[in-house]
Amino acid sequence: MNLSRFARRHFAHLPTPLERLPRLSAHLGGPQIWIKRDDCTGLSTGGNKTRKLEFLMGDAREQGADTVITQGATQSNHARQTAAATARLGLDCHLLLEDRTGSEDPEYNHSGNVLLDQLHGATVSRLPGGTDMDGEMSALAERLSGEGRKPYVIPGGGSNEIGALGYVNAALELLTQANDMDLRIDHVIHATGSSGTQAGLVAGLTGARTGVPVLGIGVSAPREEQERDVFALAERTADRLGITGAVTRADIVVNSDYVGTRLRHSHGRHVRGRRPRGAPGGAASRSRVLGQGHGGVDRPDPQGAFRARRQRGVPAHRRQRRPLRVPLGVRRRGGGYMNPVGGASTRPADAGPSLSAPCGCARAGR
Ligand SMILES: Cc1ncc(COP(=O)(O)O)c(C=O)c1O
Repeated sequence: MNLSRFARRHFAHLPTPLERLPRLSAHLGGPQIWIKRDDCTGLSTGGNKTRKLEFLMGDAREQGADTVITQGATQSNHARQTAAATARLGLDCHLLLEDRTGSEDPEYNHSGNVLLDQLHGATVSRLPGGTDMDGEMSALAERLSGEGRKPYVIPGGGSNEIGALGYVNAALELLTQANDMDLRIDHVIHATGSSGTQAGLVAGLTGARTGVPVLGIGVSAPREEQERDVFALAERTADRLGITGAVTRADIVVNSDYVGTRLRHSHGRHVRGRRPRGAPGGAASRSRVLGQGHGGVDRPDPQGAFRARRQRGVPAHRRQRRPLRVPLGVRRRGGGYMNPVGGASTRPADAGPSLSAPCGCARAGR
């Protein structure tokens, strides 16, 4: 896949490190867990939206935009990173922030990302929960166009087929790192919300014919809805890449069992789930979104997602009792493979693909 043909502005700190988490693996009693440190992308404290914004900002500049409009929740990471990217490129930025919590806590409403948005010079508008945010962005774009500006509208989370290219690039980056390290990956696990991260990862990993499965831990929508949205975007991303049909519906797997409150404050369960994981790995998450992904880690794995088995002819496998969570987590190959949604194994435990055999895809027609 040739990503260099797409407009892009390079401001992310790439490649992000790929680090082993031996203490987290020990804590969980088994699987080798690696973390792709996309908290280190460098743009105003980093985060996953930076990769998307490289391509979105490239497209904005190519289209001659002088103003960027986007939307998100009050404490949106995407809004904060968009404000930083526009400041870096000398573009005006309008952020429409929706009150999705009803919180009157001044810290929630004015500090954190909201403060950073303002420090980066963005014009911030606050809108009540339930507002048609896309409609508001269109109306603002129309008004600014009428004033002679050239606005560029980015959807929430930077999740369209342009932004998703950032995570196609992340997939290729991960494969290169894994190959360099002789690392055979069983599974990639990450949080999924506005869909661009998963769509890009799946398009990249299937486009490269790796056969490495991706599991999104849903943070907001029910599983069917999330999988539908991710699949639609992954298909559009594949079209853009010139690999139409590469992504199948079966490639899109989401577990939304840990969706709790929507993008709200961190709560006790998130904090409890985060503390023992962050500490052993040294990569504690600041994110509310990840807090929701973490919501599952203090409960037993209800689906047997990563339960390993002891089988004749294959190495002894230890049981993975809890779902994994990391900004972008990879589980090293070395154990049995179970369908992450708890169904039958889709591949024999000893016949899964490996990155050291890039065409090890076991799925037909891929
Ligand atoms: C740290 C982090 N990881 C993952 C996600 C989900 O990514 P996406 O919105 O592309 O589905 C988010 C969403 O905001 C996030 O903040």
